[in-house]
Amino acid sequence: MRIIRTIAELRDAVRAARQDGRTVGLVPTMGAFHAGHLSLMQEARTGTDLVVVSLFVNPTQFGPNEDLSRYPRDEARDARLAEGEGVDILFAPEPAEIYPDGFATTIHIAGITEVLDGASRGAHHFDGVATVVAKLFGIVAPDVAYFGQKDAQQVLVVRRLVRDLNIDVRIQAVPTVREPDGLALSSRNIYLDPDARQQATALNRALAAAAEAVDRGERDGAAIVDAAARILNDAGITPEYLELRTADDLRPVTVLTGEALLAVAAQVGAARLIDNRLLRVSA
Ligand code: PAF
Repeated sequence: MRIIRTIAELRDAVRAARQDGRTVGLVPTMGAFHAGHLSLMQEARTGTDLVVVSLFVNPTQFGPNEDLSRYPRDEARDARLAEGEGVDILFAPEPAEIYPDGFATTIHIAGITEVLDGASRGAHHFDGVATVVAKLFGIVAPDVAYFGQKDAQQVLVVRRLVRDLNIDVRIQAVPTVREPDGLALSSRNIYLDPDARQQATALNRALAAAAEAVDRGERDGAAIVDAAARILNDAGITPEYLELRTADDLRPVTVLTGEALLAVAAQVGAARLIDNRLLRVSA
């Protein structure tokens, strides 16, 4: 595996692979790899010939009071893990390579970024994500890019980005990887002390309770959300948001008909966690 730090060198490597007729897969990450990241790399390894993983803690998607400075960073460990998954290139640029002096462009996607995490964290968050992902697509020009379904809203934002800007890349969403007790893997789980780690299991249990309500025939959006809210409340968690929204464009759902996304965010101990579940009315 090569570790590459400059855009020019990365472009040369990708160009050489393309000349040999090889397809290119991109896994955009901020490092601190866990099994969720590794499953993205495995999908890329299976689906494409040249696998590029980007490792860049993107400052523009963090708010002033968020965890940019303490976000876990261990490039040597990440490099070992990526190499173990058969990744070809780890692209780990310095911030100035991505945002040189005079950088002045921001991509803003209206609508779907204004709810859930966009409302909770502020508009800068998805502006930062969309801008850096557009840059990565411009730098790597991948055939396929892989994103975790745990960040369901991010997947929708990236899909809209490539649709609206006619970027020629296929977006593949990869299922959330969970601990045996259901907690969704996240780089931020390391902030959880043992009590908070136990409390955090309530997020997935809440989503499961809502799915059970749907399986029992509940179709009323508020009642479905309430089934989840009760579990969070019992665990002493006050969600930042807990909302049922359409799975493709995040409009509020009052009555569940086909498929909808139940999304939650909550501060649990020292970690801000998110999770989601697609709820389906079975035919
Ligand atoms: O999901 C992430 O880790 C980040 O939001 C991403 C897509 C790498 C952009 O910085």
